[in-house]
Amino acid sequence: MADHIFPIHDRLVSFKDRCQRLNQRPISLWFCGLSGSGKSTIAVGLEHLLFQKGYTTQVLDGDNIRSGINSNLGFSVEDRLENNRRVAEIAKLYNMSGLITINSFISPTQSIRNKAKEIIGASFFKEVYIKASLKTCEDRDVKGLYEKARKGEIKGFTGIDSPFEAPENPFLEIDTEKHTLEVCIQSLFKAIEPLIKI
Ligand code: ADX
Repeated sequence: MADHIFPIHDRLVSFKDRCQRLNQRPISLWFCGLSGSGKSTIAVGLEHLLFQKGYTTQVLDGDNIRSGINSNLGFSVEDRLENNRRVAEIAKLYNMSGLITINSFISPTQSIRNKAKEIIGASFFKEVYIKASLKTCEDRDVKGLYEKARKGEIKGFTGIDSPFEAPENPFLEIDTEKHTLEVCIQSLFKAIEPLIKI
């Protein structure tokens, strides 16, 4: 099969030229955390701030991706891995086009996140733990899913009857119990600005 494939990478507009056009260095922020920890809210807020500052970004978010390209996947261990694997491949394409990506997925295990890191490349991949206790996420219950999971109406819900492993050594930890949304967004921006600025 490989004999019949002719990659054209060497003829495409170069990565360096794309970054110069966009005046930024791309990275992939990889948010992980429980449902209701604040991943999507922070992703949206950070994207708006970056946009205002002149950066070009793309948010990849669990609920959006699962209603589109990954609509055939569920929440088994294998499907979660496949969900995150595909997203990592997409994030890599965006990075190669010069865009900064903000990926917002529960990505519950270290091995899922390590796989994403391997695909995207260690120098681009920045793991961010969006931290809030199960109790807080459950109290917030923004989507009403924890209540359903407790009643047994949803099986294999992360934090209830499916595991979540906190990152061992994240690039950044954002505690959404201790800090306001504005502070969370600002600390993320401060941490990434030196990386993305040309
Ligand atoms: S991941 O585990 O594969 O990374 P992802 O971030 O895409 O998950 O999707 C999580 C979202 O799917 C949650 O915010 C919630 O709205 C919804 N969801 C539905 N069923 C489950 C479940 N069993 N566990 C966790 N989230 C679920």
